[in-house]
Amino acid sequence: MTELRSADFAAALDAADPLSALRAEFHLPRHGDGEQAYFVGNSLGLQPRGARAHVEEVLDQWSRIAVEGHFRGPAQWMTYHELVAQPLASVVGAEPAEVVAMNSLTANLHLLMVSFYRPTAERPAILIEAGAFPSDRHAVTSQIRFHGFDPDIDLIEVEPDLPGGTLSMAAIAGAIQRHGPRLALVLWPGVQYRTGQAFDLAEIARLGHAAGAVVGFDLAHAVGNLPLHLHDANADFAVWCHYKYLNSGPGAVAGAFVHARHAHTDRPRFAGWWGHEKATRFRMGPEFVPTPGAEGWQLSNPPILGLAPLRASLDLFARTGMAALRARSERLTGYLEALVCNHLDDALEIVTPGDPAQRGCQLSLRVRAGRDAGRALFDHLAADGVLGDWREPDVIRISPAPLYNSHADVLRFACSALAWREGHQPGAAR
Ligand SMILES: Cc1ncc(COP(=O)(O)O)c(C=O)c1O
Repeated sequence: MTELRSADFAAALDAADPLSALRAEFHLPRHGDGEQAYFVGNSLGLQPRGARAHVEEVLDQWSRIAVEGHFRGPAQWMTYHELVAQPLASVVGAEPAEVVAMNSLTANLHLLMVSFYRPTAERPAILIEAGAFPSDRHAVTSQIRFHGFDPDIDLIEVEPDLPGGTLSMAAIAGAIQRHGPRLALVLWPGVQYRTGQAFDLAEIARLGHAAGAVVGFDLAHAVGNLPLHLHDANADFAVWCHYKYLNSGPGAVAGAFVHARHAHTDRPRFAGWWGHEKATRFRMGPEFVPTPGAEGWQLSNPPILGLAPLRASLDLFARTGMAALRARSERLTGYLEALVCNHLDDALEIVTPGDPAQRGCQLSLRVRAGRDAGRALFDHLAADGVLGDWREPDVIRISPAPLYNSHADVLRFACSALAWREGHQPGAAR
């Protein structure tokens, strides 16, 4: 067990893994003379070194040829969002026409609910997980109200039934079955932001559809973290952001998926000119004719400067592939888990499921001694150059991102936490 804590052991694991070289593709935040051990890719992924060149390319075009930038060169702005469709589709397991980069996550959730949440008096309800990310909850409650229904009755929140606040598939299936006849929409996360639990999305889509509901996913914490198979999972729609594991910068342009079976849907939608059929968009006619597929939900010409970093990030995903990244991710998170279980178990409870199939890279660690001790540990880690994030009342989230975190980073976390524990709980060290 002491081997786990040896710097040589961690260094050997890094040396044996060819994907360790990807770290050099990122700007690592500094801590003193060295690098931070940065575990907050679940909040804001690091900047790929290639991002600047893509942004500068846009700035150069703008300065040199201004409006002509829309029509000139391989990265012309008129079709710029199409440059990301294929690599993005590979990351989420979709057909290129099923995905689009546009807007922000919550805006996309609303836009897709306009089309896919069509409540009736018999079927007004939306089912989500209890403790959902506040923006998702605000979005669904406001949609329920917008349609004249009452969230107190028509928002169904599935309560955790497992220790640590996670959910069994039986609880999800039971809730879908129980409320089935009233369900208009099942909206489920790929990875729950607080617990780090990952879900069997294909099974949830199957259960939701069997109950007669539409099924959508929020993949904020899943995209770029887990291999996804969105087309085969068969959800009706999905939304996600690109600033976490897709490393595309603060407030980056977000993503959306609409299953191919809805490519030519006549469901209502909120429309804008960029969603209009491409061949006739510039005839500037008064009638809206949607572009088939996910692009048909676009409203506006996209923010090109905001899209540029996404190209750099997707280049790295295309070079590596989600399967290899996931294998590395399982090794890194498994190492973190082993260190916590073997050396920090009396201080930290792992809330995230132990089964790798039920989690991504993040482990949510509940500080057993409570909030004040937890804040003290969090501050100690940060002062040591180990950055996780804090979730009230007592959870530290640590997310080793396989693109840039190393086994040495994970060991730094464990050693720093151990030093804190030994200082604060004399006699507890082992
Ligand atoms: C699960 C989840 N949903 C929604 C959001 C809100 O995203 P945005 O501000 O991009 O709309 C976030 C942001 O972190 C999130 O984690």
